[in-house]
Amino acid sequence: MKSARGERVAVFPGSFDPFTNGHLDIVERSLEIFDRVIVAVAYNATKDSALFSPKERTDMIREATRSARVVADSFSGLLVDYVEGSGAQAIVRGLRAVADFEYEFQMAMMNRHLRPRIETIFIMASEAHFYTSSRLVKEVASLGGDVTGLIPSSVRRRLSRKLTEKRER
Ligand code: PNS
Repeated sequence: MKSARGERVAVFPGSFDPFTNGHLDIVERSLEIFDRVIVAVAYNATKDSALFSPKERTDMIREATRSARVVADSFSGLLVDYVEGSGAQAIVRGLRAVADFEYEFQMAMMNRHLRPRIETIFIMASEAHFYTSSRLVKEVASLGGDVTGLIPSSVRRRLSRKLTEKRER
């Protein structure tokens, strides 16, 4: 399971709207297994309801990860096509609560159906991040709750700026 250059490369895909400390934990754990990890922001070119643009999301990932072995990128279209084009051999997904499992299982099986050679690897999030999700972070922050420790500080600054902009619109 190595690339043409003899490297183990994984794609960690997601919406990352925004990137959380739970995502960062999965990136760090992935680096123990893979030589290079591509954190890939999935966006819908025609209808994307995300709070942050794909560029803002990749910028946040770059600011938070800062490792020569981590690449931040974005893609629209099928994940398996992106994985194949990037020369990676595996998809990494983080698993938190049991509730994640069914959705993740369906996606992994569909991706296997589409490209049997691409393996999906699940990594357990640390207990500290078991209940962190981008959706809840946005909800709590928009209602004035404290999200310190749940997201990188650079993301916290961008999120508070974004929510202020939204409120003033
Ligand atoms: O962080 P998310 O929103 O749970 O990530 C879901 C994501 C982006 C991994 C998934 O929606 C995806 O792979 N989208 C790309 C389009 C695609 O390939 N869809 C079929 C997946 S089986």
